[in-house]
Amino acid sequence: MRIALLGAGTVGGGVIEIVDSRAPSLEVARILTLPGTYDDPRVTYDFADIVSDDSIECVVEAMGGLEPAHTFIMESLAAGKHVVTANKAVVAAFLPEFCAQAEESGVGFFIEATSGGGIPWIASIEKARRIDRIDRISGILNGTSNYIVDRMAKDGAEFTDVLAQAQALGYAEADPSADIDGIDVANKCIISSTVAFGTLCRRDIPVHGIRNLTKADLDTFAGLGYAVRLMARAARDDDGYAACVEPVLLPLASVEGNVPDNFNIATLVGTTVGPLKFYGQGAGALPTGNAMVQDLVDCAGGERPVYPTGETLSWKPGLLRADYVF
Ligand code: HSE
Repeated sequence: MRIALLGAGTVGGGVIEIVDSRAPSLEVARILTLPGTYDDPRVTYDFADIVSDDSIECVVEAMGGLEPAHTFIMESLAAGKHVVTANKAVVAAFLPEFCAQAEESGVGFFIEATSGGGIPWIASIEKARRIDRIDRISGILNGTSNYIVDRMAKDGAEFTDVLAQAQALGYAEADPSADIDGIDVANKCIISSTVAFGTLCRRDIPVHGIRNLTKADLDTFAGLGYAVRLMARAARDDDGYAACVEPVLLPLASVEGNVPDNFNIATLVGTTVGPLKFYGQGAGALPTGNAMVQDLVDCAGGERPVYPTGETLSWKPGLLRADYVF
């Protein structure tokens, strides 16, 4: 399958590396970048070269941000091309529009890489839903903020120094305020809740980040027996749901309280399966690139994901009790 990549930054670079070295059935035919940013004979600066090329079956969007990503995804789907994206912001904002266009065009729209980096989290939610109702999800879903709180607690480092390290390691967003203010986690929480509960999750969920956390705060929490982690939590009952993002105190001996570096952990609770936990690298070129290439392999194999949003659950913030860390 011939593919075109939109963006050759951290994640796009990971996709190119994995496809070129490990996925012989896939070919990166074109790469859309800004002039002067990536030196490769496959580079184009004009999206028209990609959308008008009938030999390109799938567009891989790794640009980030709302525009022009939204326009390029819609035009690719309308042109009959499958789309694989890692872009949390654009999927949280436009998932129903993308799904409707994909269905109309008879193509696939793939979002595994939007949430949980290399963890097959969206696929696991979809699989669990084949049998169970999923009543709760939770997770540490941002590698950058986890890296920051983990390093501050373990090394005594200052917030701004550890953030700079996370940026250098390719974990952080272009504008890292999305990571430290909880916006990135909120986008992942909205996507995960929508897929898990089958109802379109509202976009204005309560969000609190870690920007104001200090080393002194972490020391105080540790003295009381707690670690802090930025967590997404969501729950549903028969007719309602709720979701939020906030720093949560976790016992020092808990699994979540010990998640290190750029790792994520995500939990779902299903009717018959009970709690399931998924753990792995949540950020970085190769883990996130891996999730995109997994989507590409599924796409080449004929899979066409369907994200059901037929349920009409109402907003019930009381569902998120304090002990809902699973
Ligand atoms: N900035 C994101 C994070 C990248 O740190 O988790 C992966 O979505």
